[in-house]
Amino acid sequence: MNSTIENMLKHTSVRSFTDQPITSQQKSELIAAAQHGSTSEFVQAFSIIEITDQKLRNELSDITISSPHVKEADTFYVFIADLHRQANILRANNQSIDSIKNMEALLVSTIDTTIAAQNMATAAESMGLGICYIGSLRNNINQVAKLLNLPDFTVPLFGMTIGVPSEKNQLKPRMPEINQVSTNSYNEDQFNNLDDYDKVVKSYYNNRKNHPANTSWSEKNLAIFKEVHRPDVADFLRKQGFSLN
Ligand SMILES: Cc1cc2nc3c(=O)[nH]c(=O)nc-3n(C[C@H](O)[C@H](O)[C@H](O)COP(=O)(O)O)c2cc1C
Repeated sequence: MNSTIENMLKHTSVRSFTDQPITSQQKSELIAAAQHGSTSEFVQAFSIIEITDQKLRNELSDITISSPHVKEADTFYVFIADLHRQANILRANNQSIDSIKNMEALLVSTIDTTIAAQNMATAAESMGLGICYIGSLRNNINQVAKLLNLPDFTVPLFGMTIGVPSEKNQLKPRMPEINQVSTNSYNEDQFNNLDDYDKVVKSYYNNRKNHPANTSWSEKNLAIFKEVHRPDVADFLRKQGFSLN
């Protein structure tokens, strides 16, 4: 196994960091890594906003409720799905922006942004840094958009805290390959027989040092998905100009 894959298999989200700063050279490399991911039809439909203002950090951290490390990490980026440039180009050429409004374009920008972020995550971990995605910014997506002055056809998808780890969590056991990988068609039995994996995850949660819990993977997902989360996101997307059609 090469060192890139070894690093990927050692991934755990890091939520506590030392005071050691990330250098500007490291930041440039992280941004370059994010920018060099694959991008649908070369549209590069994302932007990255670094949050250096501590007051703004605090406000964003409060929105997450659960992620105080947004205040504390050396570096915090917000990843924006961004079709505003394309909308400007179309408008400047007196063209309809229907193609920007539609669901396909929203998917494209969401995918491009996620690829960029994961490129950055892999690059950061290869430098010995720790990262954590911050989706809980979407607890108040309207307020995040307001705080960051986001124009139409932009969506703050998630943030990413980056810093030198002061503590690393145990690895969370992923599904066995048989539960996620098949050949030629979706394999209902193989993908959904989760009894063995539930035991593995329950044992992981029971025995982990921080916040032990008595829950299996299925039980955790039941708890997550029995309620609708963030019902205001669809209205926010409409407000940003997307038709959701
Ligand atoms: C899109 C996305 C959003 C996430 N949002 C948060 C978050 O708001 N706060 C947090 O502490 N962790 C967040 N995480 C981290 C996940 O909880 C974590 O990746 C998952 O539990 C697996 O653990 P691991 O990354 O340590 O393997 C997020 C991860 C992803 C991919």
